[in-house]
Amino acid sequence: MTSVNTSSPRSRRSVKLLGLLGLALISSACASGTPLDTLEPDGAAARTIQDLVGPVFLIAGVVFVLVEVGVVLIAWKFRARDTDDDDTLPAQVHGNNRLEIGWTILPAVILAFVAVFTLVTIFELEERDDDAIAIGVEGQQWWWRFTYDIDGDGETDITTASEMVIPAGTQVDLSLTSNDVIHSFWIPRLNGKRDVVPGRSNTLSLESDEPGYFFGQCTEFCGLSHAEMRMRVIALPQDEYDAWVEEQMTDGPTPQTAAQARGQEAFSGLCASCHSIRGLENQPGTGENPIPLVSGVAPDLTHFASRRVYAGGLFELYDGEGNVNRGQLEAWLRNPAAEKAMAPDDERGMPNLGLTENQIDDLVEYLLSTADGPVWTGPRND
Ligand code: CUA
Repeated sequence: MTSVNTSSPRSRRSVKLLGLLGLALISSACASGTPLDTLEPDGAAARTIQDLVGPVFLIAGVVFVLVEVGVVLIAWKFRARDTDDDDTLPAQVHGNNRLEIGWTILPAVILAFVAVFTLVTIFELEERDDDAIAIGVEGQQWWWRFTYDIDGDGETDITTASEMVIPAGTQVDLSLTSNDVIHSFWIPRLNGKRDVVPGRSNTLSLESDEPGYFFGQCTEFCGLSHAEMRMRVIALPQDEYDAWVEEQMTDGPTPQTAAQARGQEAFSGLCASCHSIRGLENQPGTGENPIPLVSGVAPDLTHFASRRVYAGGLFELYDGEGNVNRGQLEAWLRNPAAEKAMAPDDERGMPNLGLTENQIDDLVEYLLSTADGPVWTGPRND
């Protein structure tokens, strides 16, 4: 066996450096109050999970400490000594029935104990309130669509993207699916993850105790822009939620300025093959066979300016004071692939339309006229 000489100044410095590095690694893993903190539940489902995590972590911790202490003690006690000759082995325990049955049964009992509480938790998480509201969730490369059937007639009344608005204190019953590859929906402070699979409908419930702004992130690798496939849940007080619903049910804006009118025209001609704005469906201009300007390929932008984020939740439309981050929006329209991790020739994601600077200015004017301001103006919990 070789021994490390820790007495020279150089090796002592190496040991100190290694120690510091380890400390930095450990402490960087322990931030609290971060947006995606799984250990700070803000809703019933997340709390149910937390109630399981605590005891299981405790049991796992005790087992970890016992095993580690045992390993270190045994390694120390039975270490090779100078007096040993090379052929001497410590006393062997192979064939000791009492020990072997013991360390087979004990872990089985511990795991059975954990399994009972896990099953109870799973069933609790599947419970749905009678007054839960239903929201459809569709993942696609690389953004989330949320659909609301407000009157329950089976038709979608509201379509949004990147931000899901819910009433605080009410359970929300999600049905989740994907339009392309497998994604995973996750709002850590409100519930666990749920895979979003093409051709399948999975369910998940969310509930926020209080009004708030909750961060989420796609957690299944789904392509180049996976890390930029984000979402938010905005929980509003019931009256503000009702007002939001009323506003979202209305059609898109009627241009009030020449720039907005030019922007609307540019939108109809260039953007509307993928994006839709409700109310534009009946735009004239295609003679006897008006093409309905409805598309499911990209986010519905009917009330775009009511959202805090766009481009898959990657960019903030407003700064902390409620001013529009116009430069970022223009850059996004100018060259989306450059702003996001997308290959320039990727057929998914927003293409570079080669817009002129005038078109970009007009489109920005029109898009910003889709709402008076963001629906959430409070703090962002980060
Ligand atoms: Cu969608 Cu990762």
